[in-house]
Amino acid sequence: MSDEKLKYEVKDYWNNETCGSWSSNKEKFTRDYFEEIEEFRYKIQPEIFSFAEFTRWYGKKVLEVGVGAGTDFLQWARAGAKIFGVDLTEQACEHVQHRLNIYGFQAESIQVADCENLPFQDNFFDLVWSWGVIHHTPDTEAALKEIVRVLAPGGTAKIMIYHRHSVLSYLFWVKHALLKFKPWLSLSNVLWNKMESPGTKAYTRKEALKMLQKLPVENISIKTVLTYYDKLERFSPALRWIARKLAILLGGDKAGWFMLIQFNKKK
Ligand SMILES: C[S@@+](CC[C@H](N)C(=O)[O-])C[C@H]1O[C@@H](n2cnc3c(N)ncnc32)[C@H](O)[C@@H]1O
Repeated sequence: MSDEKLKYEVKDYWNNETCGSWSSNKEKFTRDYFEEIEEFRYKIQPEIFSFAEFTRWYGKKVLEVGVGAGTDFLQWARAGAKIFGVDLTEQACEHVQHRLNIYGFQAESIQVADCENLPFQDNFFDLVWSWGVIHHTPDTEAALKEIVRVLAPGGTAKIMIYHRHSVLSYLFWVKHALLKFKPWLSLSNVLWNKMESPGTKAYTRKEALKMLQKLPVENISIKTVLTYYDKLERFSPALRWIARKLAILLGGDKAGWFMLIQFNKKK
């Protein structure tokens, strides 16, 4: 399948299911709807706060790549940042617009755009934030290159992508390969075909570093963190026990599903 066709399918997937919106059954676009999405998001992904450090970006130009339902975008607004948001889907941008209206904030811009081709000038943003997005686009390296291009010299990028050698990946493989009597399927194959939108990728720390080393960046930090998803928190005690043992065996956070990447653009 060509990259363009795959991207079309990715767009279709996320247009039908704005990220995180399934966690509320309240009337769409109401305050209750957004509050429920927010409460659930930070209950299951508390690591976002320490990584984002929302309140440190007051008055700074912040671009969020892949806004989804706009829960983090609202935190940048609350923190007083000058906020710009893009997402591949109209549904996500609509979510964010409604959300900001309800809470009385304004963005500099919110637009439908492709992270592989960002509609911004070079050397502009103090921070680019992207949580769980660029592993969904066919050319993740192109997206990284774009993020670096639009960052101001010395600017910071904070990006989360999925980590392939994680508890969740292995358990996902057991479910979609081993238990389906197809043990020859690779982790990458199973993630590509079964994890969220079609074509989802997950990287090793080494692969992430290799992509970054081609770019004009410094102070690279790559950490993985054991998540709600690795711990199978929403499953039975027996499955949670298995996940816990596997996590201990694989080194705890070293085998976490979220890979948190931070770097600065060289001055
Ligand atoms: C897993 S959701 C994450 C959304 C949000 N950051 C969050 O954490 O809730 C992935 C998002 O990436 C967006 N996306 C996928 N491919 C993209 C691309 N090429 N350019 C911009 N956004 C993209 C999707 O539309 C979707 O909103």
